[in-house]
Amino acid sequence: MATNRGEFSSRFGFVMAAAGSAVGLGNVWGFPTQAADNGGAAFLFVYLLLALTLAYPTLMAELIIGRHAHANAVSALRLISPGRGTARFGTVTGIYGFIVASLILAFYAIVAGWIIAFFLASACQLLGLDGLADWLTRFGMGRNLLFMALFMLLTIGIISEGVQRGIERWSSRLMPLLLATLLCLVLYVMTLEGAMDGLKVYLLPDFGAALKPGLIIAALGSAFFSLSLGVGTMLIYGSYLTDRENLPVVGSLVTLVDILIAVLAGFLVLPAMYVALHNGVQIFTDSGELISGDSLLFTVLPELFSTMGIAGVIVSMVFFFLMSIAALTSSISMLEVPVAYTIEEHNVGRKKAVFVIGGLIAAASAVILLNFETLFGLTVSFTTRYSQPLLGFVFCLYAGWLWHRDKLLQELRKGNPEVAQGLFWKVWPWHVKFVCPLIILAIFGQALLG
Ligand code: PFF
Repeated sequence: MATNRGEFSSRFGFVMAAAGSAVGLGNVWGFPTQAADNGGAAFLFVYLLLALTLAYPTLMAELIIGRHAHANAVSALRLISPGRGTARFGTVTGIYGFIVASLILAFYAIVAGWIIAFFLASACQLLGLDGLADWLTRFGMGRNLLFMALFMLLTIGIISEGVQRGIERWSSRLMPLLLATLLCLVLYVMTLEGAMDGLKVYLLPDFGAALKPGLIIAALGSAFFSLSLGVGTMLIYGSYLTDRENLPVVGSLVTLVDILIAVLAGFLVLPAMYVALHNGVQIFTDSGELISGDSLLFTVLPELFSTMGIAGVIVSMVFFFLMSIAALTSSISMLEVPVAYTIEEHNVGRKKAVFVIGGLIAAASAVILLNFETLFGLTVSFTTRYSQPLLGFVFCLYAGWLWHRDKLLQELRKGNPEVAQGLFWKVWPWHVKFVCPLIILAIFGQALLG
C-alpha cells in the first residue's frame, strides 16, 4: 500500500467532493425530463425510494471497503477477499472498474466540451463577436476536438494537484457555486411567463405513468449513474477519508445532496421548457414526448434563450457555466480511479500518471469523436447500462457475502463506537446481502433483454 497517499482534510471537503462526483450531467440534464415524461411527482417519489433503498446501500458498500483498505479498488478487494480465488476475482473487478471509469470519462469529456463551447459562445455574443459565437455552437470536428481536449486539460490540471489541493479544494469551491447558480436560475425562470405550466407537469403526480415496470428499471439505472456507483469512484474517495469519520452519516449527506440537486434542477429545466413553449419554441417530439437528451440541451434551450434578448444571453451563459461545473467535479472523480490505481500498484508518480492516463483517455475521446455514429452510443451503453450495474453487483457481493462481518463492524466502529446499536447496522448488512444484489440483477437482466 502506498504511503503518503493523501486524505480529505474535513467532512465538508469530502462531502463536496463525493457530491461533486455524483452531481453531474445526469442530475441537471437527465433527471428532469425523465420525471416530466414519466408521471412528474410520482416519478420523483419512485426515484427517491430507489435512491434510498438501492443507491445509498451500494454507496455505503464502496465507502466502507475503500476506507478500510485506504487503497484503490484492486488492492481493496484483494485485501477483504477470504481466499486466493476471490482475491484474483477482486483484481479483475478493480481493473474492469478503472477501464469503465476511463471510458465514461472519454464520452463525458466530449459532451462537456460542447457545454464549454456553448458557454463561451454566449460570452462572445455579449462581446458582439457573433461570427465566433456561431462557430462555437456549430458541431464541427475541429471545435469538438479542441473543446474535448480543453476539458480534459482542466480535469488533468485538478487531478495532478492531488487529493487536498486538487480534488478537495476545487470541489469545495465549485459545489457551493453550483448550488448558488442553480438557485438564482430557478428563481429567475419562475418569474417568466409559462413557467407555472412546467411546474404543474413536474409536481402533479401521475402514478399510472410512474409505476410501469420498464420505468422503475430505468429509474434504477439512472439512480446508479447519478451516484457514480460501480466503477470505484466512491471507493477511492472513501479511501481518502480519515478513520474518525462516521461513514453512514457522510454517505447519507452525499446521497441527500445528490437528490436535492436533481430535484432542484427539475424546478429549472421543466419551467424553462414551458417558457420556451410559451415563446413559440417546439418542445415536444412528433410522438408527443418532451424533447430530451442532447436536443434539449443544445437546441431547445438555446432557442429559448434566443427569444429572450440580452437577458437570454446572460441566462445562457450562467446555465452553461453551471453545467460545466457539474461536469468538471464529476470528471475529476473519474480520472482519479485509474490514476490512483497506477500510482499505488505500479509506483508511478502522480503527475506522470495523470498526464499519461489523461492523454490516453483524450485519445480515446478523439477516436470516439471521429467515429461518432458507431462508437458514442456503444460506449455509453457498454459503460452505464451494462458495466455499472454489474460492477455494483460485485461490490455488494464482497460487502455482503465475502467480507467477514466482524471486520466490517470493526471498520464502522472506528468512526462511531455505538454503530452496532443503531438502525444502520440492523438493516444495512441484510439489505446489501440480499436486496441490493436482487434489484441489480433485475436491472441487469432488463438491460440484457433490451
Ligand atoms: N454521477 C455523474 C452524473 O450524474 O452525471 C456521472 C458519473 C460520475 C458516473 C462518475 C460515473 C462516475 F464514476
